Amino acid sequence: MTPTASPEALLPALLDAFATELRRTLGLVFPPSRAQAFEAGIGRAAAALGEVPASLLLRLAAGDGAVIDELARELTIGETYFFRHPHHFDFLREALRAIALDRPAGAPIRLWSAGCSSGEEAYSMAIAALEALGPVAERTVAIVGTDVNPDCVARARAATYGEWSFRNVEPEVRARWFERDGPRFRVADAPRAMVRFAARNLLDGPPPPLLAGDGAAPGIDVIFCRNVLIYLEPAAIARVTAELARALVLGGWMVPGPSDPLQRSPELVVSAVSGMITYRRAHHEVALVAVTTPARVVASVAPSVAARPLPASPLPPVTVIPPRDAVERARRLADGGDLAAAFALIEEAVILEPLRGEAYALRAVLAQARGDHPAAAADADRAILLQSGFAFAHVIAASSRARLGERVEARRHVRNAQRLLSALAAEEGAPGSGGVTARELLHACRQLDRSLVSASAGRASGGRR
Ligand SMILES: C[S@@+](CC[C@H](N)C(=O)[O-])C[C@H]1O[C@@H](n2cnc3c(N)ncnc32)[C@H](O)[C@@H]1O
Repeated sequence: MTPTASPEALLPALLDAFATELRRTLGLVFPPSRAQAFEAGIGRAAAALGEVPASLLLRLAAGDGAVIDELARELTIGETYFFRHPHHFDFLREALRAIALDRPAGAPIRLWSAGCSSGEEAYSMAIAALEALGPVAERTVAIVGTDVNPDCVARARAATYGEWSFRNVEPEVRARWFERDGPRFRVADAPRAMVRFAARNLLDGPPPPLLAGDGAAPGIDVIFCRNVLIYLEPAAIARVTAELARALVLGGWMVPGPSDPLQRSPELVVSAVSGMITYRRAHHEVALVAVTTPARVVASVAPSVAARPLPASPLPPVTVIPPRDAVERARRLADGGDLAAAFALIEEAVILEPLRGEAYALRAVLAQARGDHPAAAADADRAILLQSGFAFAHVIAASSRARLGERVEARRHVRNAQRLLSALAAEEGAPGSGGVTARELLHACRQLDRSLVSASAGRASGGRR
């Protein structure tokens, strides 16, 4: 009798084969934390196409477009909202004003939202263009949004959105650029007319031509490709970055998301303005990294570049964007129970204000809420390093170290917290804690210490038995 593999034994091999094919076709990688979602998504895609998973795999391997679309529907993460990472839009407004000044009046400016999901990013770019340039943007600025998930593209074209897409939008901005459509909001005519959408895999090259007469690929001025590369494997990241670089005009900008992996490319100059990473298509091959913080500018320039400076840039240097009070806003969101939005904002706060201990302390609290104690402990340590006498951060460090079983470290933090808190009035809010009083934190320290002592005693007596 020929031995046959049981379904249980086959499944991991089948899943591995899907993972390999999805890396090849879409560049996507699936960490172990998404293993269940990955398997469930494949099951749903197979059911939607009336296939068993094994034949779905064969069709995927043969490059069947319907299968790729269905898997993209099921397996991509389309999390997005209007004006996500607001400082990127400050940057865009400034870049657009500079580009418009540099061009003959009425010359087109082209923008690309690469990996646009349901379109919020592309429409935010259109609104930012109207805010920066006024009504002339309607005639001069053309935007394309592309995404591999066809459902996202359909939603983007429909241009109506629910409340959740506006979680980072001031009411005046929504009132100005959106119209009510029952319980939803529709993008107003002016920004809507500036944007086109296309279903497109970033691994398949540049977007379709934006404007009539664009056949000879005149190039994109600014690309936003944010929170997309983070889902891709290294070879796909390199390929997509090279394609994006090629799609830019000389001196054009590419803006990645704050958590996207940094990618070096001979054609791109990488810089960080106020902690925000941008890439700029170089006028010739250079290797330049400039890091600008609000307080100082540090530039490390490869010797060959120092000797051969960049030619005059068509754009003035981008000035430092003042950090917003993202920490306070993130704290308010967290206090209101919106932990996902709070986490997204605190990620920005850490980039905007990389030396602010409070930002790390709040990120540590949010990491604890997600049960990520290694991240919480690391952030609490950063907060302690950056802000001397930070009792609240010691308390967070103590509780996360305790959860990680690092009792000696945890007790050290408890003692430090107790010493610092005893110097405060009992009802005084501990600095950087968002209003938690010294009395409350001391109480938490006592409880924590008791549990650490009894855990150690338990271990010692267990060891003697
Ligand atoms: C988290 S969303 C980001 C949306 C938006 N850029 C933002 O930052 O808010 C990631 C998007 O990337 C898209 N994506 C993933 N892999 C892609 C690929 N190979 N080609 C095109 N889009 C892709 C997904 O479909 C998803 O809509």
